[in-house]
Amino acid sequence: MSDARAAFVHDGIAFGCDYNPEQWSPEVWDEDIRLMGQAGVDLVAINVFGWSHLEPREGQFDFGALDDIVNRLHAAGIRLNLGTGTASPPAWLVRAHPDILPMAEDGTRRYHGGRQAWCPSSPAYRTAALRLVRAVAERYGDHPAVALWHVSNELGCHNALCYCAHSAVAFRAWLRRRYKSIEALNDAWGTAFWSQTYREWDEIEPPRITLSTRNPGQVLDFRRFSSDELLDHYRSEAAIIRDVSDAPVTTNFMLTAHIDNLDYWSWAADMDVIANDHYLDHRLADPTVELAFAADLTRGVSRGAPWLLMEHSTGAVNWQPLNLAKAPGEMLRNSLVHVARGADGICFFQWRASVQGSEKFHSAMLPHAGTDSAAWREVCELGAIAGALDDVAGTRVEAEVALVFSWESWWATQAESRPSHSIGYLDQVHAAYGALYALGLTVDVVAPGSDLSRYKLVIVPGLHLVREHEARVVTDWVAAGGTALVTFYTGTVDQDDRVWTGGYTGPFRDALGIRIEEFAPVAPGTELHLSSGAIARLWSERSTATTATVVASHLDGPAAGTPAITRNDWGGGQAWYLGTMLDAAAYRELLATIADAAGVRPATAHDGGDGRVELVRRTGAAGSYLFIVNHSAQSVTADASGRELLTGQDVVGTILVPAGGVRIVRE
Ligand code: GAL
Repeated sequence: MSDARAAFVHDGIAFGCDYNPEQWSPEVWDEDIRLMGQAGVDLVAINVFGWSHLEPREGQFDFGALDDIVNRLHAAGIRLNLGTGTASPPAWLVRAHPDILPMAEDGTRRYHGGRQAWCPSSPAYRTAALRLVRAVAERYGDHPAVALWHVSNELGCHNALCYCAHSAVAFRAWLRRRYKSIEALNDAWGTAFWSQTYREWDEIEPPRITLSTRNPGQVLDFRRFSSDELLDHYRSEAAIIRDVSDAPVTTNFMLTAHIDNLDYWSWAADMDVIANDHYLDHRLADPTVELAFAADLTRGVSRGAPWLLMEHSTGAVNWQPLNLAKAPGEMLRNSLVHVARGADGICFFQWRASVQGSEKFHSAMLPHAGTDSAAWREVCELGAIAGALDDVAGTRVEAEVALVFSWESWWATQAESRPSHSIGYLDQVHAAYGALYALGLTVDVVAPGSDLSRYKLVIVPGLHLVREHEARVVTDWVAAGGTALVTFYTGTVDQDDRVWTGGYTGPFRDALGIRIEEFAPVAPGTELHLSSGAIARLWSERSTATTATVVASHLDGPAAGTPAITRNDWGGGQAWYLGTMLDAAAYRELLATIADAAGVRPATAHDGGDGRVELVRRTGAAGSYLFIVNHSAQSVTADASGRELLTGQDVVGTILVPAGGVRIVRE
């Protein structure tokens, strides 16, 4: 990576959007660019879905319209986040090569007419896509407006798992590289079971739908393969761009609750800047908390470096069963949560609301109602704030707590055959994170096996799949004086989805000082009562404390009389274990106790807000910035001193943050 690419270099906090001028006539472009100036837009993603416009027929390129828009934006001082245009293949390509269409697990094809209708392993797709990328990169590679390259779009959003014959060939090649011998593959997948033993590589297929449950090792490896296959596609586009352009290269990740297709820990190193798309998901219990988690996860994937919010929405989306509008001020507040948690740019999908196509009911910066609208006024207000935050860019978030997160565990937890379908990996992650959030604590999200030395408290929620050395990083860190909380279902299987025997939690067992003999999940709706007075649900297990102290035990349910919460002295530190799903209030109380014992504090003291206040500090060479985001309906006071950047007022000692308001204090 050249120095020019080492970071996404932008003057301050970028403010921008996806822009799809191909949906509008050139007269509208003039108005768009004038209004972009009014809103403070300085970074625009174009050509994301450009293929059928740039290459109307195979090998015939027409850059006229794109040249025009590139030059107009450049003349207006707007920088480009330039798409390679390969996200959705044109109809002529599908017609010429129908085998690029992805295949679902039941063997049926998915057709042209939506988007992303391509198999990640299709040779014909790859050839055509790379020809387009070369043409775009050569044309604009040294254009001064290009600030960033936007490879494809949300790779794997719809097409991550393709089960066609091309995928089968690529899957076998991937498996040969991973296992070297068919015997090693049989061993890893446990194919002795149900007469599944393979003798030849060609006998292996993608895990298409079966009558009974599928081999879980095969399914898990197919997830790994599918993530790697799209990364390989990204790399092939990026390599062409890097050949001819010095601008940084990235693609927009989907670190969000409803997409689990890619293992972004393995993607991160290939990005010159980490970019994320995030949309509030109102199917979740608490979308606001999930937003904070996703932002922290994005910073984790970025290894603490500033990142870019490439897409979010000003208001409702169009793809949930019920698409809720944002309350007044919510968009502004949420945008600043991303900045508080490490974003150096706030961008939206999209600039002008479409009037046709599947996304015509998706909100935009410029809504159907036009500029005489609350949405537009809030966009302009945010643009002005982004302009006032320029010095924040480049600073880093401070955190004393780490939460270990793993896509492999997320995948393995979804095995078709499992103890309870009411337990999800993200539910456990969100529950732990939600308790820390309610306490106002800032959390770094880290990959299994990451160095923990800078933290005071480490949370390991439901880390179902774990390698021995990944567990050892945690237990050694505890032995060296750290405090950890491990929650149930952690340490159940190894990297091959093979159960760790001798008592669950496997490689964590000794440090936790407990021995779990049997899982005892309970039906949704069943309350479990603990000796501490806490209420829990969904999960219990029959266990004994070997060296641990029992903090709370089950009073009822299938594990009555056995420990539910334990604490074990391990070397110089303490390893806590939570063996059930606590209600939110009890979880918050437990984490308050543990955080207190570990000496963890919020970024500043505050009063009020009922657990709906975010307190985050970003620090850099030039100083530090305290963000206080009040999602509650009451005003909040917090300790702070310095210059408040939204009001321009000096603050001495304490600050009042109004209900629903945000304050950013340069300390
Ligand atoms: C993203 C996508 C955008 C737009 C947006 C709508 O997944 O990258 O193109 O579709 O969602 O929320």
